[in-house]
Amino acid sequence: MSTYTAHFRVWRGDADGGGLRDYRVEVHDGEVVLDIIHRLQATQAGDLAVRWNCKAGKCGSCSAEVNGRPRLMCMTRMSVFGRDETITVTPMRTFPVVRDLVTDVSFNYDKAREVPSFVPPEGVAPGEYRMLQEDVERSQEFRKCIECFLCQDTCHVVRDHEENKKAFAGPRFLMRVAELDMHPLDAAEEQGLDRKRSAQDEHGLGYCNITKCCTEVCPEHIKITDNALIPLKERAVDRKYDPLVWLGDKIRRRT
Ligand code: SF4
Ligand code: SF4
Ligand code: FES
Repeated sequence: MSTYTAHFRVWRGDADGGGLRDYRVEVHDGEVVLDIIHRLQATQAGDLAVRWNCKAGKCGSCSAEVNGRPRLMCMTRMSVFGRDETITVTPMRTFPVVRDLVTDVSFNYDKAREVPSFVPPEGVAPGEYRMLQEDVERSQEFRKCIECFLCQDTCHVVRDHEENKKAFAGPRFLMRVAELDMHPLDAAEEQGLDRKRSAQDEHGLGYCNITKCCTEVCPEHIKITDNALIPLKERAVDRKYDPLVWLGDKIRRRT
């Protein structure tokens, strides 16, 4: 087994400020960044705050930025870096820092609450729902989400623009709107909820300019932009320019 010493630069501080601190930490074969952060905590920085749970890429807790790229620390192998490379670990930039590598991700919980949930179809009891396999598979991709919020962290709409946070749900929750809008059994429209319109008016779909940065960082390899955001945009536009919808809206406005 080979061992070497890596140069780590880790952000230390809290909501009032902080900075990068240098450490030299031992690395063993097969380790991931989270292992090194844990060794650092055990040997040199007992008060280093870091959030994690599963160490298996499934709980979505250990999100941070490694050399500036949003990543899960438990899924980032040390072998992807050169042995003499400095590895910089910083908290997710889009969310307020609590302490060290731990951020306050409650922005995402607020956005989750703003998306109205699945509306069950009338007259069909749970257990009697039937869907085509292709419809099941379409939304299954989105359900792989582990809520790590790396896509939310990387999206430029909010990353450098705090002022957009109010109006923009972010890729994870626009994907949720898309998933529900594609759901063949969702009866939202019958109940007066137009998910396409609310994607535009309430969740800020128009802010997304399909740069695909969210897709690039998703550890579950969900094609957020291609399979959720672009189709949602297309359907929202179809709806907007549908002459029958336009006429219906006009009549509704008059009455
Ligand atoms: S594709 Fe849209 S949601 Fe994804 S990062 Fe780009 S602007 Fe943000
Ligand atoms: S869509 Fe991907 S990047 Fe975004 S929260 Fe879910 S798993 Fe994380
Ligand atoms: S510790 Fe669970 S995803 Fe990394």
